[in-house]
Amino acid sequence: VTAEKAGFDHFMLKEIHEQPKAYRDTMGTRLDASGEKVVLNEIGMTPEQIRAIRQVHIVACGTAYHAGLVGKSVIEKLARIPVETDVASEYRYRAPIITPETLVIVVSQSGETADTLAALREAKRCGARVLAITNVVGSSVAREADDVIVTWAGPEIAVASTKAYTSQLIAFYLLGLYLAQTLGTVDEAYIAEVVAGLQQLPEKVESILAQADTIRAIAEQVSTHDNLFFIGRGLDYAVALEGSLKLKEISYIHSEAYAAGELKHGTLALIEEGIPVIALATQDELFEKTVSNIKEVKARGAHVFGIHAEGDAELAKVVDRTFAIPATLPLLTPALSVVPLQLLAYYASLARGNDVDKPRNLAKSVTVE
Ligand code: AGP
Repeated sequence: VTAEKAGFDHFMLKEIHEQPKAYRDTMGTRLDASGEKVVLNEIGMTPEQIRAIRQVHIVACGTAYHAGLVGKSVIEKLARIPVETDVASEYRYRAPIITPETLVIVVSQSGETADTLAALREAKRCGARVLAITNVVGSSVAREADDVIVTWAGPEIAVASTKAYTSQLIAFYLLGLYLAQTLGTVDEAYIAEVVAGLQQLPEKVESILAQADTIRAIAEQVSTHDNLFFIGRGLDYAVALEGSLKLKEISYIHSEAYAAGELKHGTLALIEEGIPVIALATQDELFEKTVSNIKEVKARGAHVFGIHAEGDAELAKVVDRTFAIPATLPLLTPALSVVPLQLLAYYASLARGNDVDKPRNLAKSVTVE
């Protein structure tokens, strides 16, 4: 078993460290030789069919749902098509408006999640085209979808999903760019800039992984608490949700993720002296607003750990500790900012003496509705 873990203490830690490779493999041949364009031969839709898409529904569970929240922003920004992201167990029961002009994207690491599969079948019944983003070739979801983007993350053994999530993000970036190229919704120079940004992500993840000890020290501090909060705006909020799920799932510490601007509509009442708050502030456009939300929790005694982009010296002035992720395009930050949160969950779980790879009450693949 130790051999399978390639010298790591747990599968989760191994899989966190496999992310640079998973990013490279998922991008693989999908970037053309010039390095300026995306090639998605696995999408069987003609340009006419792509132009006919009126709306996109992204449907998934758990961590894959969180990837879908990022996917919504990516597709809307690049392809300018309206996107809704739903939890698969809710989707069918809200009588969603699915038409033949709807592209339904199901996201599933295993490709066997019962609720996601049921949503796929409902979408097909309504005449929608279904695209699957999955890590398992030949899985039920892959077999039943019209088009499949395989994430080449390699087998994920730990119950807590890490490299599958980030490779789903890469798949969404590729898909968003591909749709944009076909629809002409963004200029070629921006596409080339995003492609270049994608290609630099693996080494940027490596530089975060090299600082695991810094995160470990913070995790050990966090592990002594029973409650904490993750806050962020925009894409940072989507990543905050994933960071919070990861922490709950394996450390059993209660945490909540909030859109930073929502705090004063209720949650602020829970902030008391010493409570840890993990604040993500990587989005330039939202930075000032996030900082004012951070000041609100600081004023109530929260101990704030801030995650920001390299080059920003401002956050350090308002929070207790900071961690910088390498600079990248704002659209691409989730593929970096989630990594310290994965490490935070891992080391907090370890500090609490939990079974990191097999958390209580959970299964790797949920095949019942
Ligand atoms: C993530 O850490 C979870 N274990 C869980 O939320 C998972 O992402 C969810 O059950 C969906 O699984 P799938 O991607 O295989 O469909």
